[in-house]
Amino acid sequence: MSAGDKLARSFGAATVSVDQRQQLIRRTFAQVAPRYDVMNDLMSMGIHRLWKSAFVALAAARPGEIAVDLAGGTGDIALALASAGARTLVVDPSPEMMRAGRGRPGADGLRWIAAEAERLPFPDASIDLITISFGIRNATRVDDALAEIARVLKPGGRLFCLEFSTPQAWLRPFYGLWSRTAIPLLGAIVSRRRDAYRYLVESIRRFPDQAEFASMIASSGLVDVEWRDYSFGIAAVHSARKPAA
Ligand SMILES: C[S@@+](CC[C@H](N)C(=O)[O-])C[C@H]1O[C@@H](n2cnc3c(N)ncnc32)[C@H](O)[C@@H]1O
Repeated sequence: MSAGDKLARSFGAATVSVDQRQQLIRRTFAQVAPRYDVMNDLMSMGIHRLWKSAFVALAAARPGEIAVDLAGGTGDIALALASAGARTLVVDPSPEMMRAGRGRPGADGLRWIAAEAERLPFPDASIDLITISFGIRNATRVDDALAEIARVLKPGGRLFCLEFSTPQAWLRPFYGLWSRTAIPLLGAIVSRRRDAYRYLVESIRRFPDQAEFASMIASSGLVDVEWRDYSFGIAAVHSARKPAA
């Protein structure tokens, strides 16, 4: 069984089908969308902004490039790519998340497309840069999403993926306590969606660690796979590129 299948099945294969999981994820993001940005600030105590700005700097979008921010949600990463001069598209299956982002200043300059990472509505070899921030763990089939990314990237095109990951051992007890107690509690208070935030915490806990995710990316055919940890591994950025033709 591939790591992607293991991940899909880990959400209770006996009781939850892939379709049901997809619906659960859709519902979760529809519910949290109106308070998503403020919850991010509270859950991470603002640190996600630092991670994201380091991530955007690493991706180094160039003027004229075609950039896709996958699982782009409310569009913060996409806006940063666009401000570097890239022609930027936000791709996300949740109309509610994208609606929450469309009011941001500058959002009119982006293209917003409702689609899943597993089925990208782009021709082969058409995209220069793909970013995906805190989104890949929501793909029901991570392997399929990576295969799609590899398909649509141009030869030499780059992938940058920011995701929660596995913190260093000394930090795990504190981090575990924070995520199991404080995050659902904040979710209950701020967005009145304790269950939705339980799902988010659970999806983080079940996501492959840095090395395993790197090997999944390499299996998709991308090369030069590397990662760097943020905040002692609470989050990590994986990068890779499509081999030149
Ligand atoms: C935690 S949010 C991240 C949003 C944004 N990228 C950020 O960094 O704040 C995860 C996003 O993944 C989207 N998503 C869920 N399933 C997806 C899939 N199969 N393909 C692409 N995006 C998906 C959700 O709709 C949601 O907007």
